Amino acid sequence: MTGPVVCRRQGPLSGAFEVPGDKSVSHRALLFAALATGESRVRGLLGAEDVQATRRAVERLGADVRERDGEVVVTPPERLREPDDVIDCGNSGTSLRLLAGVLAAVPGLSVLTGDASLRRRPVRRVLEPLRRMGASLWARDGDRLPPLAIRGGALRGARHELPVASAQVKSALLLAGLFAEGETSVVEPAASRDHTERMLRQMGVPLEVQGLEVRISAGRPRGGEIDVPGDISSAAFFLAGAAGLPGSAVTARGMGMNPTRTGLLDVLGEMGARVEMANRRESAGEPRADVTVRSAELRAVTIAGALVPRLIDELPVLMVLATQARGRTVIRDARELRVKESDRLAAMGEALAAAGARIELFEDGCAIEGPTPLRGVAVRTRMDHRVAMSMAVAQLFAAGGEVVLDDVACVATSFPRFFEILDGLCQGGAR
Ligand code: S3P
Repeated sequence: MTGPVVCRRQGPLSGAFEVPGDKSVSHRALLFAALATGESRVRGLLGAEDVQATRRAVERLGADVRERDGEVVVTPPERLREPDDVIDCGNSGTSLRLLAGVLAAVPGLSVLTGDASLRRRPVRRVLEPLRRMGASLWARDGDRLPPLAIRGGALRGARHELPVASAQVKSALLLAGLFAEGETSVVEPAASRDHTERMLRQMGVPLEVQGLEVRISAGRPRGGEIDVPGDISSAAFFLAGAAGLPGSAVTARGMGMNPTRTGLLDVLGEMGARVEMANRRESAGEPRADVTVRSAELRAVTIAGALVPRLIDELPVLMVLATQARGRTVIRDARELRVKESDRLAAMGEALAAAGARIELFEDGCAIEGPTPLRGVAVRTRMDHRVAMSMAVAQLFAAGGEVVLDDVACVATSFPRFFEILDGLCQGGAR
């Protein structure tokens, strides 16, 4: 499905759905399994284009990946080999940045590229710290943008103080650290998602975490069983929709509850929505639960500081929800939104303003006055899955108005079943 697609659904949202596998964890499962000493079995891997990009990459580096009995089995090569072609990461920033950390140590030449959206996203943030570890790598436009060319070689450990909280950069450096001589440490200004640390530890790699610092030394994961939790960043569209649409109650089953990712639930609660958790459990180092959100009268909130990395990918849909909350919602410290699959502040600001929202944009966030009834609008999705899905949710607040999305092919990068589940919840069905 590409577009244009006309959205004309009606809420409330009700029912339950199985949350598809977490994208961040899925990338890491394939990549770390490809580096391991033994076979890994992955359950619940996300079937979406971004993860396919990582799969193709690790296959090109010599891993064998196949489906067996509902699991994905990864058999690593003895040593990763030089890829025999350019590695195309598609739309996936996580694939490109994490692979850069690994390929910096793989003898030979590697070239990483991606689609038009990815080729506009910054890579200097991984390139410069990797160079400090002795890596040889170059990028287009004065080392700013992909494609990225890497000549793999010997690395030495280094201490990195990151200027922005980024799990992709942190992970790239920790992965490079696995191949480096001496210790590598990464210090972040605020905690970003820690799936890399949890999974490496599960796979037997010793790694020390002290506050905002992570330290790692050379080692090799041993592989094993990985159980991928549901992706809160996918469930977010329905949970946020349910919070704001009167009469709604939606349950997300098997959703990941890693505290570095659950800022959304804190904010929904603070806005006044009713959030309940059941069936809490932990598997392969990642907590999960069944989470129900019920609608309520919503109030405005402030989202800033250390909360931002805990809900960075949920900000587009939270911007939609803020239009329905009483008062002035303020989002700050979210400059990173400008370098995601699109400039999400610009994209969401343009789409919501055209839909009648009262929104003011800042360099690092926005302020939104509510509640405002939205109206139908034509949206430029800019190859950004989360812009497309957020505006499909915005349509539910448009009182019968139509939202026309110019291109929804991007939705398949993270959530191929999005529209199907949304339809099911609009009809009050369980999935
Ligand atoms: C991700 C980290 C975040 C997030 C992205 C996935 C990851 O990006 O926005 O969708 O899997 O590590 P940054 O590391 O750039 O903040």
